[in-house]
Amino acid sequence: MKTRLLRYLARRCRSTSDSVRIVEVGPRDGLQNEKSIISIAHKKEFIHKLANAGLSTIEVTSFVSPKWVPQMADSIQVASSIERKNDVTYCAIVPNKKGLQMATEGKIEHYCIGTAASETFCKKNWNCSISDSLKITESLLDEMRRINPNAYIRGYISNVMGCPYEGNIQQSVVVNLAEKLLEIGCSEISLGDTIGTGTPRKFSNLIRDLVNIVPMEKIAVHCHDTYAQALPNILVSLEQGVRVFDSSAGGLGGCPYAPGAAGNVATEDLLYMLHGMGLSTGVSIDGVVGAARFICARMDKKIESKVGKAWKVEL
Ligand code: HMG
Ligand code: MG
Repeated sequence: MKTRLLRYLARRCRSTSDSVRIVEVGPRDGLQNEKSIISIAHKKEFIHKLANAGLSTIEVTSFVSPKWVPQMADSIQVASSIERKNDVTYCAIVPNKKGLQMATEGKIEHYCIGTAASETFCKKNWNCSISDSLKITESLLDEMRRINPNAYIRGYISNVMGCPYEGNIQQSVVVNLAEKLLEIGCSEISLGDTIGTGTPRKFSNLIRDLVNIVPMEKIAVHCHDTYAQALPNILVSLEQGVRVFDSSAGGLGGCPYAPGAAGNVATEDLLYMLHGMGLSTGVSIDGVVGAARFICARMDKKIESKVGKAWKVEL
């Protein structure tokens, strides 16, 4: 009965809005795999520039073990010291109770939790089985809602298009996981193509099946661009009605536990496509290119995104 009601609501919520929300994951996904440690001051300035560019949801860090992800060892200092804008949602990855305590110290009250569609990846990344990740998530969500009844809590499902260790992933596994995360109480499900192996038809089929279970406005798409499929995959997801996309300024990113994965789709490349299609985002390409150039320069890196390289504005 509950499932039938969810399906009915999901179909009714099919979105045709002209407005797209971008979840900027640059300060977390973008930086987590960088070997040289970036200073707290530079991370903060990067986040401020992204907020000033008009991004309304920014994943600022992750409260994970520094033994597992050394770049995020300063999570509390970064999160607690950023200057907040009222209209921006600042969120961060919280994998367990310890992470939630740290988030509270860092004054973060919007959260990202994670699981995966592959047992091997889940164990390598989160150090637990898929079913344990759901149990941990369920108990965390109760606590998160107690801390902030209005918390925005996004649930990441990694490996929706393939796993670096197990290869192909059954679509039904992803759909079942999404249903569980929704039942547990996630506000939004982010579909992670962690290694970028997805292609448009696979994405289109996944969204088509998923929308019978998850309301369209609760689906987000998170593409890594290893095989240059991120924008085509986003385009078919847009056509299906998805209006929330994760991206990273400069196209930075990659997961330390997904060998060979490239960065996320670049926010500026995504914006160029969306604005060119007449969709509104509230985000300035100038501002994002400025933020991307800033952080790449701090890392002595050349900006790799197409728009980042071509954009003429002097910032
Ligand atoms: P654990 O099972 O407790 O690990 O951690 P452990 O037993 O190896 O413990 C290691 C140490 O970390 C212990 O300290 C713990 O107390 C401590 P010690 O006793 O050795 O001094 N510890 C913590 N420290 C800080 N913050 C914490 C924390 N928890 C324990 N929260 C855990 C489990 C999940 C924390 C660990 O496995 C971990 O940190 N994994 C890293 C996960 C990660 O950040 N991966 C990258 C992000 S996910 C991603 O990129 C995919 C995504 O972008 C979507 C997509 O693209 O698909 C989201
Ligand atoms: Mg990612």
